[in-house]
Amino acid sequence: MAGFECLPGFRDFYPEACAQRNFLFRVWTLAARRFGFQEYDIPTLEPLELLTEKSGPEIVEQLFHFTDKGGREVALRPELTPSLARMVGSQANSLKRPIKWFNIAENFRYEKPQKGRLRSHYQFNADVFGEPGEGADCEIIALCVETLLATGLGAKDFRLRLSDRSLWIDFLAALGHEGEAALGILGVIDKMERLPQEAVLEKLEPWFGDAREDFLAQVKTLVSIRELEGLKRFFGSIVSNAALRERLDARLESWERLLNDLDALGVSPWIHIDLGIVRGLAYYTGYVFEVFAIDGGGNYVGRALAGGGRYDHLVGRLGFPEMPAVGFGMGDVMLGQLLLERGKMPPLIDAPDCFLVVGGPAERSIALKAAQTLRAAGYRVEYPLKPVGFGKQFKLAGQSGARLALIFGEEERAAGTAKLRNLQSGEEQSVAMEQLLDAVAEA
Ligand code: HAM
Repeated sequence: MAGFECLPGFRDFYPEACAQRNFLFRVWTLAARRFGFQEYDIPTLEPLELLTEKSGPEIVEQLFHFTDKGGREVALRPELTPSLARMVGSQANSLKRPIKWFNIAENFRYEKPQKGRLRSHYQFNADVFGEPGEGADCEIIALCVETLLATGLGAKDFRLRLSDRSLWIDFLAALGHEGEAALGILGVIDKMERLPQEAVLEKLEPWFGDAREDFLAQVKTLVSIRELEGLKRFFGSIVSNAALRERLDARLESWERLLNDLDALGVSPWIHIDLGIVRGLAYYTGYVFEVFAIDGGGNYVGRALAGGGRYDHLVGRLGFPEMPAVGFGMGDVMLGQLLLERGKMPPLIDAPDCFLVVGGPAERSIALKAAQTLRAAGYRVEYPLKPVGFGKQFKLAGQSGARLALIFGEEERAAGTAKLRNLQSGEEQSVAMEQLLDAVAEA
C-alpha cells in the first residue's frame, strides 16, 4: 500500500474531529473554571521510575518507554497523577490550600486498541490537594457530573458508581486480610465484572482456600447494595471487633455527610452506591468512583467515561510531606463516541462570515484591502486564492457555508462600492467602500 498510516491506537484529527475534540476541551475548561479550579501542566516525558513505582501494575505493563540519548530511562505519561503529586509535593509549603487544579493533556498507554480504548487519548484531570474531609470528595464528584451534563448528556445517559476503598479495607481486615493480601484481593474484585465466576474463584483461592465460595457470596451481597442503610446493616452484621466497629461507624457517618452534600448540589440523581468499583490503580485510599454510560434499560454500556478517587499517601510516597488528595480523569474517546451516538455532539461548522467574490485583477487589490479591514475587525473572511470565473466563485461561496458574499465587480469599482449579498435570503444591497464595516455588522 502506498503512503503511511498512523500507528495503531493513534488518531489523525481531521478538521471535523478536531472541532469535536476542541468542543470537549472547551466544555471541560469552562466546567473546571466554574468550580474555581486553576490550570497547570506537566511534561509529556517523565522518568520511568516515577511511573513504575507510583502507578498500578496494569499501567506499568502499558508504558511507552525507552532510554534517551543521555542514558536515562524515560516514559511517555500514561496518566498525570504521579507527576501532579510531584509538582504539588515539591512546593507544598508555598501553595495556598485547598489546591484545586485542572489539566487537559494527551496520555499514552500501550493498550489493545478497542472501542473506547486507544493508545493515545486526551484526559481532563481535576484534583484537590490539602483537604482530608469528604467536602473535597464532594467537590470532585459534583464537578465530574456537572462536566458531563455540560456536554449535553442528561439524566438517562450516565451514572456515577460511588464506592469506598476504605470500607473494603475494613471489610477485608474483619476477615483477617490486610496489607499486600488486601491489595491482591481488591485486584481480583476490580476484574470481577469482566471475568467468569470460575476464574474469579480460582484467583481467590490463595487467600480463601475452601472458603472462597462463601467469600464470593458475601462480596455479591455487598456489591448489590444501593442504599446507605443497606451498607450500615451489612457492616453491622459482620464486625465484632470494637476498634474496627468504631472506625466503620465514623466512616459511615462520613458517607452520610457526603451523600447529603451531593444531594444539596443537585447531583444525587446520577450517584449510585456501588461497591463493585474498587479501581485498578494502586494509590487510591478512600472514596473511589467510575462513570459509565447507560442504555435505555439502565444497563452499563462500554468502558468507563471517567474514574477517580482519593489518594492520600501518594505525595508522601514520593518523598514529600504527606498531603491528602482526591481527583478524577475523564477521557475524550468514550465520551466523544457517546455524544455522537446519542446525537449530542453539536454541529461544529467553521464557516466564514464573508466570502469575497472578485472580478478581474483591477478589482482584486480592492477586495484584498477589504478582506484585511474585515479580518482586522474580527470577521472570518475568505476569497478565492487564484482568479476564477464569477459562476464558480458563487458556487464556492455557497459551499463555504458563509452567510454573506461581498461582490467586487467592474461596475462596483467604477461606483466606489461593493455589493453585499445575504446568501440565505438572497437580498442584495450596494455599499460604499467606507460603509463596508457598518454594513457587514448590520447584515
Ligand atoms: P483511569 O481510570 O486510568 O484513571 O483513566 C481515567 C479515564 O481516562 C477513563 O475513565 C477513560 O475515560 C480514560 N482512559 C484511560 N485509558 C484510556 C485509553 N487507553 N483510551 C481511551 N481512554 C482512556 C486515571 O488515569 C487517574 N490518574 C485519574 C485520577 C486523577 N485519579 C485521581 N486523579
